[in-house]
Amino acid sequence: MQSSELLPWKFNPLFEKYSMQDAIKKASEMEEERAVWSQVPLLPRIYSKGWKEWQDMPGAGLVGDLIQWWEDDRKDSMGLPWYPNPTNCELVAKGEMSLEDYQVCCMRRFCNVEAGETAGAIGLGNAYLQHERDLRELILWWRFDEQTHQEMDKIMNIKLLGIPEEKLLRTAINYTERMAKSPMSPVTKENIKTLNRFQVVRDGPPLLMGCIMLAEIENPWSSQRTRPALVKYYNFPNEALLFVNVHTFIDYYHIRLGQYILAKYATTNELRELCKAFFINTFKLQHERAAELFKELSGKKFELTLKKEDTYLQ
Ligand SMILES: [Fe+2]
Ligand SMILES: [Fe+2]
Repeated sequence: MQSSELLPWKFNPLFEKYSMQDAIKKASEMEEERAVWSQVPLLPRIYSKGWKEWQDMPGAGLVGDLIQWWEDDRKDSMGLPWYPNPTNCELVAKGEMSLEDYQVCCMRRFCNVEAGETAGAIGLGNAYLQHERDLRELILWWRFDEQTHQEMDKIMNIKLLGIPEEKLLRTAINYTERMAKSPMSPVTKENIKTLNRFQVVRDGPPLLMGCIMLAEIENPWSSQRTRPALVKYYNFPNEALLFVNVHTFIDYYHIRLGQYILAKYATTNELRELCKAFFINTFKLQHERAAELFKELSGKKFELTLKKEDTYLQ
């Protein structure tokens, strides 16, 4: 296990120097440049300004439907104190969550993302076995980004929130191991509600990872809402907000990866229905789990109990 170091991330000082909106604009330009330097020919195209290529691809209708579903759901759910997820909920945005509870929420996030990283690595391997070159390249790029975010979250948990590294990593590993032991299962639109997200990614078609990318649509606005509160009410310094800062802009691009993958590879009705079921289920289970956690929070019995439903929290 290595210790956590603060590296000179290029995007992060922007959030200290400029207003959040200007920082997001400048960081987004850097992101477009990063895509050019990635040496993956497809990426600069997808990351270029005004990219809409997905709208002319076979699964465009599905992508449009999923985005519409999410927007409707957000309208219905705004104003709920736990929406959309524990670390970015309204309670945090208003500075009404205690620091102790916020710490537990961050630790929970680290643990469920850790399990997600492992499932994603297996899903990436499945994409390689499917021999679809665009699919594997985009998933690989996305997984790499998400692993870097996980390291940023580790820094936040350890340096800012004072959670001992050994305790954090041990808890995350134990949870990952537990999820990895979930039985192998076919993934269908009928049974998807009964499976945790580790199982879906491990045992389902790799295309489903496009749904997870698209589901990151909630991250930019919720991170942009939370960040000012973390500075104002919790006095967190910018260098500890790496993880939050990066999610104010990077998922604008990850959403595009999801749009491309779903629009290109959801070519049959069966696949489209499966994707729809997974996408909607992801948010429904996230809502249920977040509401349940909120109740525990109000009851002052909030402890780190990780259930399989936590795999759906973002
Ligand atoms: Fe991320
Ligand atoms: Fe992302």
